[in-house]
Amino acid sequence: MEQDLKGHRAVITGASSGLGEEYSRQLAARGVDLVIAARRVDRLQKLAAELIAKYAVKIEVLQLDLVGPGAAVQLFQAATAQSRKVTMLINNAGIGPFARFLDEKPEKHLNTMQLNTVALTELCHHFATHMVGHGSRSYITNVGSIASFQGVPNFAVYSATKFYVRVLSEILARELKRTKVSVTCLCPGGTHTEFSDANGQVLKEAATSMMMSASVVVALGIRGMLAGRTIVVPGFLNKLACFFPRLVPNGLALTLAQVAMDRSATPVQRQLK
Ligand SMILES: NC(=O)c1ccc[n+]([C@@H]2O[C@H](COP(=O)([O-])OP(=O)(O)OC[C@H]3O[C@@H](n4cnc5c(N)ncnc54)[C@H](OP(=O)(O)O)[C@@H]3O)[C@@H](O)[C@H]2O)c1
Repeated sequence: MEQDLKGHRAVITGASSGLGEEYSRQLAARGVDLVIAARRVDRLQKLAAELIAKYAVKIEVLQLDLVGPGAAVQLFQAATAQSRKVTMLINNAGIGPFARFLDEKPEKHLNTMQLNTVALTELCHHFATHMVGHGSRSYITNVGSIASFQGVPNFAVYSATKFYVRVLSEILARELKRTKVSVTCLCPGGTHTEFSDANGQVLKEAATSMMMSASVVVALGIRGMLAGRTIVVPGFLNKLACFFPRLVPNGLALTLAQVAMDRSATPVQRQLK
């Protein structure tokens, strides 16, 4: 039987689809009150209405573009207004435009860095300070990727941001070891969400047949988070993909990553400028 999490309150970014929506569903099912944020507010409202009716939890919806200036502070202030406690932060929102580095506009690279690393860092700082301050058992999950362990061609900036997310999470987890706040980095591989459509990636059969479901990935992520694990890599093949690069020279690992990616996906056709 799954642990009842009543009394917890979670902030979830990128809750309008994919892993963030699934975190919202699974935490609400266990009695957690939520603050859910993303840009597509219609989706958030629909999800909130469904989960409130089903599980009688409290859910606040915040329409937010986390690439915008001041957005992370806005989320923190909204979530903690009237001295309300937050005991879980799921830093999930992320993008990863799939293209050769030079084929993507510089603004897109900067947006990727802003969302995946800058906003995530600000949220970690504000919420970890808040959690250490109130002293209740609390959890932070940062969503990384198997690209946190091995960079992937066509995902240069994305891979670099996910390395950052993993390293930040590992060190923050260590620094908070003597507090009641644990930090987990969930590192999924290919997962059935809207990620490939949203990021210009046309998947081939070889990739889709090996992808995991968002519900399984999130269930493992929540289990690892509650156990206080720092790194959670869901699925045997993903574990292999994270471990293998440590055994071979970097150049060879990169070549193999390129071969695997070429077999799995192509960038959507775009006009080269
Ligand atoms: N799916 C995979 O294969 C996979 C593998 C490894 C890691 N991941 C990671 O998993 C996380 C979730 O991705 P997903 O797979 O669930 O993809 P997804 O279905 O595309 O979801 C991405 C979420 O991020 C939100 N988002 C995007 N830009 C935003 C912005 N500027 N401000 C606020 N929210 C924003 C989106 O909401 P709005 O568009 O409504 O704002 C959406 O809710 C990401 O960090 C991704 O890197 C995914």
